[in-house]
Amino acid sequence: MTTRRIYLETFGCQMNELDSELVAGQLSRLGYELTPRAEDAHVVLYNTCSVREQAEQKVWSRLGELAARKRRQPSLVVGVLGCMAERDGEDLIRRMPVVDVLCGPGELDKLPALLDNALRTRESLSGGASARQIALQGNTSRRSATLSAASDDLELLDLSRSISATPPGAGAYVRITRGCNKFCTYCVVPFTRGAEVHRPPGHIIDECRRLVDAGVREITLLGQTVNHYRFEHDAEQIVNGIVQPQKGRTYKGSHNRDAFAGERVTTFADLLYQIHEQVPDLPRLRFVTSYPRDFGDDVLQVIRDCPRICRYLHVPAQSGSDRVLRRMNRGYTCAEYLEFLDRARGFLDQPEVGRPLMLSGDIIVGFPGETDEDFEQTIDLVRRARYKNCFIFKYSPRPGTVAYDRIPDDVPDEVKRRRNNDLLAIQEEISDAISREQIGRTFDVLVEGLSKRSLKHAGLTKGEIRRKNAVALTISARTRETTVASAHRPQLSGRTDGDLIVFFDTPEGQNPDDLIGQIVSVRISHADRLSLFGEAL
Ligand code: 5AD
Ligand code: SF4
Repeated sequence: MTTRRIYLETFGCQMNELDSELVAGQLSRLGYELTPRAEDAHVVLYNTCSVREQAEQKVWSRLGELAARKRRQPSLVVGVLGCMAERDGEDLIRRMPVVDVLCGPGELDKLPALLDNALRTRESLSGGASARQIALQGNTSRRSATLSAASDDLELLDLSRSISATPPGAGAYVRITRGCNKFCTYCVVPFTRGAEVHRPPGHIIDECRRLVDAGVREITLLGQTVNHYRFEHDAEQIVNGIVQPQKGRTYKGSHNRDAFAGERVTTFADLLYQIHEQVPDLPRLRFVTSYPRDFGDDVLQVIRDCPRICRYLHVPAQSGSDRVLRRMNRGYTCAEYLEFLDRARGFLDQPEVGRPLMLSGDIIVGFPGETDEDFEQTIDLVRRARYKNCFIFKYSPRPGTVAYDRIPDDVPDEVKRRRNNDLLAIQEEISDAISREQIGRTFDVLVEGLSKRSLKHAGLTKGEIRRKNAVALTISARTRETTVASAHRPQLSGRTDGDLIVFFDTPEGQNPDDLIGQIVSVRISHADRLSLFGEAL
């Protein structure tokens, strides 16, 4: 039988990137070949995002293009994975009959069986006949508030992660929490990814250790509300010899250690500390995304005391108006948010030793009912927060959410667009000022690779540069040639632990390949809004 080639494209967030990596590993272990060229594939899979309509539109248009191709190639199997599959369900197939396989983000462990069935059916039927295969979670994940004794098969997907040697300088994601219990009124995630579930700390630490053994230099822990992580050891359940993930509970007050006096609990602070101590060869540990409320001092203390945990927090505020925050069901006020930022800076901002605390945020403009005055308050918040960078989104009504059902989307698109642009301009000013403040400081920079400029100089095409990680070996070989052949010293790029991008020239007499994946001390000599430039010391 010929090897089936699969093209897998990812849309949306880091959680999706990780899901795609796990799915790709699982499929290649089963003998499928992953191809970077959609036109060569027997199976086309889109791992989709539903957070905003725009993200969905991209997928709709790709599916439209595939419909034409399928008329020429009836054996083509098309799969939609992720949040759009879960949210739209069979309506998606009614609208786009080109789709054969639907697999929600909570069912990805079942994908190999679905694909196998679809391919077999396709082959045994004459072209064009349906090979439909569907696995969706529906509302099952919220059925019971008690801990379930059933095996969590999605955990097996994370556990079976195939970790092979990684390119030098590589980073990796590790999931600690799936799903979300927050139900912000604009957001589809609690519906598409289901209830919050925390992975056992042993599994997480073991995965980090294996990644580091394979050469990973930076790990980013993932969770929708990552700082809500906690695992109660007294309630631990073991099914088929595997410790099961646990459903999240809602606590009144802080999620820090005090809330669990006398219980055997691994809190988020404990988890960070344990990874830091038990994976000592990991140079950098990060985490996203933090929920601004319930952020105990215990987490800030651990970050302060563990030198390899990055001084970087992504803490979305979403709005600077208390009225809007209430309607978003965010559960904090603007003053509480800013109090948290002050507290975090008090613990973690140490520019004098090259470790300023860097913050990033998310803001939604044009939430239903947002007035000019509300928006002015958001501008005020953005100025006071001084984010290194801020992701700004126009509100996008999402069917099924409370905001969609109960609050009319009454801010005209042109107003949303204007607010979006105004806020972007303000954030650019702030980012620019923060960049310039770094001139004269010295940072530890984790070198990730050659800068785009040097890659172009080494003769790589734009496409190769985009797929830099995949072609790392080729780049290495070619870099060596160019380094030897020209007097030009290749420019390296890397990041500070606060996630600032830094460019610097390879020091005289050194091979750039030897520096990739290393931490190099760099003194910043100039800066623009997006990047810092300096010399290695
Ligand atoms: N419209 C616009 N932005 C949204 N986000 C989530 N849902 C919506 C929506 N319906 C943004 C939030 C969140 C980020 C991941 O996406 O800012 O933090
Ligand atoms: Fe969505 Fe709110 Fe959960 Fe973030 S915290 S994933 S915005 S519901």
